[in-house]
Amino acid sequence: MSPIKEVIVNENTKLNPIWIMRQAGRYLPEFREIRKQNTDFIKLCLNFKLSSEITLQPLKRFDLDAAIIFSDILMVPYGLDQRVSFKKNFGPSLGLVNLDKLSKIKKTSFLEKLSPVYKSIQMVKNNPLTYKKEVIGFVGAPWTLLVYMINMSSPKKKLIKNFFKDKYLINRILIILENFLKIHIKQQINSGATVVQIFDSWAGLLKEKDLPKYVYKPTSNLVNYVKSLNVPVICFPREIKDYKKYCEIVKPNVISIDYKVDPKLIVKQIKIPVQGGLDPKILLSDKDHLKRKTLKYLNIFKNHPYVFNLGHGVLPETDPMMVDYLVKLVKDY
Ligand code: CP3
Repeated sequence: MSPIKEVIVNENTKLNPIWIMRQAGRYLPEFREIRKQNTDFIKLCLNFKLSSEITLQPLKRFDLDAAIIFSDILMVPYGLDQRVSFKKNFGPSLGLVNLDKLSKIKKTSFLEKLSPVYKSIQMVKNNPLTYKKEVIGFVGAPWTLLVYMINMSSPKKKLIKNFFKDKYLINRILIILENFLKIHIKQQINSGATVVQIFDSWAGLLKEKDLPKYVYKPTSNLVNYVKSLNVPVICFPREIKDYKKYCEIVKPNVISIDYKVDPKLIVKQIKIPVQGGLDPKILLSDKDHLKRKTLKYLNIFKNHPYVFNLGHGVLPETDPMMVDYLVKLVKDY
């Protein structure tokens, strides 16, 4: 069994597998080289030759335990015919949602638009570099995708005014998203994804009273769906205030924690396997500091099933040598 499955399925505490959120991306010169010639990010995600190559780039450099498919959570709104583009130094920019059009999208047209993503997963799965490693498929959680679809760009610290005004629109989008996210998950698994991660990057924006409707319920539905396909599911509800409650209600196989939460509290409160936590900014400091902070997480989770990862994506200004050092530290622990 692969090290990650050993931790997730057998709750093995002896192994310290590692992968890194955004491990394929801008901190790697070989990615930037490809990106320079491919200015349209969506088109790059839909180029299965290049997206599979980019997915494998970090595995050629580092002894990572998983490949995560080079795609984006916003490929789902794109597959639902919403305009999506990525602007330099601005982030994602989406067009206005047209509910009439959205309600008429067919499964076949969605799968057709995203077929290169599935082809890319097949190529990654069939590459010897992923032998005995996990291939991680992923989706954005319904709440986080709703945020982008209504907000039309990253909310940074808060949502646009009147975000919740059109309840009918919001409820309809949530239902449609659930349906298509299941389709996207299933197709990724059929193509070779062996683990699924659900990114809820904006879970921390909600008040406690709104969590059941926007986070707990829609995400639980997806978690149950992934489990029904016999694939482990990791949830990353970034900056949620109460991880314990989230785990009790949503019941993922693994909980991925952000860098703001106290890992000592997590290890006391949570019984299921844990992933992540280290602040990506630590990789911008020096080796001694990185070593100290890495050992802190490894020591805290010494007797707990733990998959090493960061508490959010690796930053573009990270030196790949620091990632190399981190992977070796974790492997030699
Ligand atoms: O290596 C991997 O982790 C796999 C690929 C991946 C990307 N995005 C590639 C990407 C994954 C898993 C994502 C998830 C994603 N995308 C999330 C959830 C995780 C998180 O960061 O909270 C979110 C919120 C998005 C939406 C998104 N995509 C934003 C906000 C941005 C722009 C800001 C940024 O960090 O660049 C993107 C673009 C994006 N997605 C890039 C990459 C490598 C950068 C594109 C570029 O080269 O300019």
